[in-house]
Parts: sequence; structure tokens; C-alpha cells
Amino acid sequence: MTNQLPKHQPVLLEKAVEALHIQPDGIYIDATFGRGGHSRAILEQLSAAGRLLGLDRDPQAVNAGNALAATDPRFAIEHATFSQLSSVIHSRLWQGKVDGILMDIGVSSPQLDEAERGFSFQHDGPLDMRMDPTTGMSAAEWLATAEMDEIATVIKTLGEERYGKRIAGAIVETREHTSITTTRQLAELIDKASPTRDKFKHPATRTFQAIRIYINRELEELSSALQQALDVLSVGGRLAVISFHSLEDRIVKRFFRDQAKGDDLPAHFPVTADQLNPRLQIIGKVIKADADELAVNVRARSAVLRVAEKLA
Ligand SMILES: C[S@@+](CC[C@H](N)C(=O)[O-])C[C@H]1O[C@@H](n2cnc3c(N)ncnc32)[C@H](O)[C@@H]1O
Repeated sequence: MTNQLPKHQPVLLEKAVEALHIQPDGIYIDATFGRGGHSRAILEQLSAAGRLLGLDRDPQAVNAGNALAATDPRFAIEHATFSQLSSVIHSRLWQGKVDGILMDIGVSSPQLDEAERGFSFQHDGPLDMRMDPTTGMSAAEWLATAEMDEIATVIKTLGEERYGKRIAGAIVETREHTSITTTRQLAELIDKASPTRDKFKHPATRTFQAIRIYINRELEELSSALQQALDVLSVGGRLAVISFHSLEDRIVKRFFRDQAKGDDLPAHFPVTADQLNPRLQIIGKVIKADADELAVNVRARSAVLRVAEKLA
């Protein structure tokens, strides 16, 4: 019998799990369970005493996680955003005891591939784009009510789309006579509003990405989770973050750099480097997919893995 559940091909699987330096009896968090590709690889390295907790804000991912939890007592999953990391860890009394956290951020293939989720301009579906459709505003609801300037700013800053203003104008003009409720409607409207074409990209690519990032508060989620990860990790615990977008990678890079540098004191303040109280040590260089992985997984093209270790 074929498995009907949509699949997700994990990105940088071996490199990310290797970066966590798994202690077989340790406690690990997969903050973005998805379909559990990374979780299964972590479980392979844990002993019977090891523990892995998965988090995901998407109820479908949580269903997939519950199926795994039913077969493996070392694993559990919670329906939570990773910005709720501290409270989830507190309730398990794991504060300062977590040996590794993996964050493989962004959307999963099942989210993109299912038209009903409304993430993709390649499939016609309701314009939703929420990773957790049980809470918050859908993309259609936001586009129906937001001011034109706000829409333009989101498209320009989160999509790095130079025609943000034109596209926002076209959205506002259209919604005066027709509700924008489907992905196809939005994609066609963007196509018409875009005066030039990129050879390799659909004109709606950047705008869809921007709206998705905005609706799911993805950058705020990431900044908040990084800070909390520092608090819950044990000394020597590892944080591995895979990002797919330059805005996300910039947040991770700056956070790692600032925490590795320590307290921000005025220049020439008379302290030694260790008195600056650095909280993280950056491990190795940025890791990207190699040619073998790129040949079989096109999503790996923009993936960037950064790794850091918590200091005493
Ligand atoms: C790229 S996929 C992860 C795939 C996973 N590593 C695997 O191998 O199947 C990202 C997942 O993270 C979830 N996610 C994204 N942002 C989140 C957040 N702020 N809190 C919790 N889950 C989030 C998404 O719902 C999605 O399932």
C-alpha cells in the first residue's frame, strides 16, 4: 500500500545531526518537527535513556509526530511555536538541561504542496498561508483589511520585491470590487502588476514569500526562539539552525556573533576577553548542501546551517 501522507525530504540531514554532537543519554529538542526527518536521525543516535521532544505549530505535523511518539517512548511532541520554547521546557523541568536544539525553519514540502494550505502560487487554493490554521489571521483576511502602505512595506522588506508599491496598489484596487480569496487570483494580479520578468522566477514568488513571513511572524518567532534557546541549553549544549532566507540567516548570524562577543561595553573599557561574558561559541563555518544533496533536493539550494555551543 502506498503512503498517502505528503513527504518532506529533510535538508542537510547528516550535517545537522552531526553538528548536534549527540550524547546518547541526552535531552534534545527538534523545534521544527515537520515530518520528522531530522527527529528520526536523532533518535537513531539516542540510547533508551535519551529523550527527544518535537515542537511544531502545524497541527498536521503534530499528527505525524504523535504517530512517531506512539511507537517510540523516547519521543514526544507538543503543538507549540518555537517562541514558546522556554515555557514548554519549564513545564518539563528541563531548564538548563537541554543538550541540543535543532531549528530547521521555514515551510515544509507538505505545506507548500497542499493547495488547501494556500502557500503556493503553483496550486490554486484558499489564500491562507498560516502554518497553524487554527489561530491568527489568514493572508486573505490581512489583504482585505491592511492599509496600502503596510502591504507595500511588507512586500518590499520581507520579499525584497522592487515592485512592492505597484503590487500593493493593484491589491487595493482589486479588493474595491472583488474579494481576493484564492492563490491564483493573487498570483495573476501580481503578474499583471509586474512590469518586468525575471527569467527564472515567477513574478509572484517574492510577494508570496513576504506575505507568508508576515502572516506567520517568522522573523519575530526566530529572534525570540534564539534568545530562549540560550536559556534552556545546558553548558556545552549545541544549537543548530538551518535557514532558507537571507533575512533569517542574518538574524542567526548576528545573534551568534553578539552572544560570542559577550557584553557590549564601551571601546577600551579595561576588561579581559573572558570578563566580557560570552555566552556562545560559534562552531565551524557556515555549512551548505554539497553537490550530491543538491542533485536530489532542490530545496537544499538556499539552506544555510549555523552551529553554536553554549558556554559556561
Ligand atoms: C522545513 S520544515 C521542517 C522539516 C523537518 N526538519 C523534517 O525533516 O521533516 C519546518 C517546520 O517548522 C514548522 N515551523 C515553522 N515555524 C515554526 C514556529 N515558529 N514554531 C513551531 N514550528 C514552526 C513548520 O510548521 C514546519 O513543519
